[in-house]
Amino acid sequence: MKLKPALQELYNTAKKARENAYSPYSRHKVGAAVRLENGQIFSGCNVENSSYGATVCAERVAIQSAIATTGPKIKITDVMVVTDATPPWPPCGMCRQVIAEFAGNTQIHAANLSESVQTMSFTEILPHAFTPEHLIDSK
Ligand code: THU
Repeated sequence: MKLKPALQELYNTAKKARENAYSPYSRHKVGAAVRLENGQIFSGCNVENSSYGATVCAERVAIQSAIATTGPKIKITDVMVVTDATPPWPPCGMCRQVIAEFAGNTQIHAANLSESVQTMSFTEILPHAFTPEHLIDSK
């Protein structure tokens, strides 16, 4: 699908963050942007590490940036991921779990540099998610 006008700003923000990626090991630059319920947008890029395991994906950096700036009471309405890949990359499993913590009718948009976008609902890519609600009165 071609990028819709309502997603252009989110896409541009993710694409710009992608340019800052630190990815000497995989050589894949990834940019992400999250839009919050109040309309604010935060971005991130992947930051790799020579230990490999300490690598952080663009999506988690974007979410952490949103919380560092506005506090933890956030609801994410949209996540945009931009890679130079066809088909575009969706969030990895670990990022899906982190999105679940702050999700609420969230849409996931996997896009590439040709502005081809695949939009999925978050529940479609992580059904039966483990969420903070499971920790309430669960005994
Ligand atoms: N990566 C992301 O940043 N987001 C994704 O959704 C998938 C993978 C990064 C991690 C690593 O730096 C590189 O892409 C290859 O896996």
